[in-house]
Amino acid sequence: MTRRVRKAVLPVAGLGTRVLPGAKTTPKNMLNVVDRPILSYVVEEARTAGIEHIVFIVGRGQGAIEDYFDASPEIEQALAAKGKADILNEMRRDLPEPGQMSFIRQMAPLGLGHAIWCARDVIGDEPFAIMLPDMLMMAEPPALAQAVAAYERVGGNIVVVEPAPEGEAHKYGIVALDGRDGPLNRMVGMVEKPAPGTEPSNLFISGRYILQPEIFAILETQERGAGGEIQLTDGMAHLMKTQSFHALEYAGTTYDCGDKLGLLRANVAYALARPELADGARAAIRALL
Ligand code: G1P
Repeated sequence: MTRRVRKAVLPVAGLGTRVLPGAKTTPKNMLNVVDRPILSYVVEEARTAGIEHIVFIVGRGQGAIEDYFDASPEIEQALAAKGKADILNEMRRDLPEPGQMSFIRQMAPLGLGHAIWCARDVIGDEPFAIMLPDMLMMAEPPALAQAVAAYERVGGNIVVVEPAPEGEAHKYGIVALDGRDGPLNRMVGMVEKPAPGTEPSNLFISGRYILQPEIFAILETQERGAGGEIQLTDGMAHLMKTQSFHALEYAGTTYDCGDKLGLLRANVAYALARPELADGARAAIRALL
């Protein structure tokens, strides 16, 4: 019997260098895709996968995230007074129940492994999910739900992967598999940002994980790796010596919203996927082309 995955860690402290200056005063994961911040989609994905508690790892100047997931009495009263129940409902859809979100300051930009380690006390001794919110995953069932289903089948640790665009594998964490038979395969290795030409496969770690809590003790003493950062991938490679890891090629499409064109593609794709906006979006795109 696998233990249920109830908590998710969302590291959001990055500077958003590739989407500056927009991300100067708005945390990058609060930039809009159509009419909602990126985080709204990721939190919804987490809830659909059965996540009950979300732990945000934040940096300085990211108070907007906490405010977004809190009540907003002035706006809500104004909308209620104007009879705008539909917008009110849209706003309330994102709100957690009190006590279902935690916010932890990373305090130093030491890398993804360090960001995750900051969640150790709130996660405690249970399996948990990690969601890299830059990566918006359009999928049905949602990507994390697919990962949870895989976890319920094989247990251990699950890493969601997908084929890297030609020539770009060296920008990511890359996995090595013990053969490939269907979308869920046992991993035998992983490496963060391999030198071009040395990648063990073309499958990159794309931003959803289910990990066992033993990762925290490893991250605690983890040496710095690629880019001088404490890398989650290195910690997972260490954990793989004693626990099983499976890579899941999820069914869906990923949009890297930490990148200008990725954010644009996400806006187009999510607008086209909205019944009330699709026709208008299609007409607008055609007119521009
Ligand atoms: C991080 C992870 C990497 C993963 C990538 C996905 O890298 O370390 O393994 O493939 O996210 O976006 P970063 O983008 O922070 O350099």
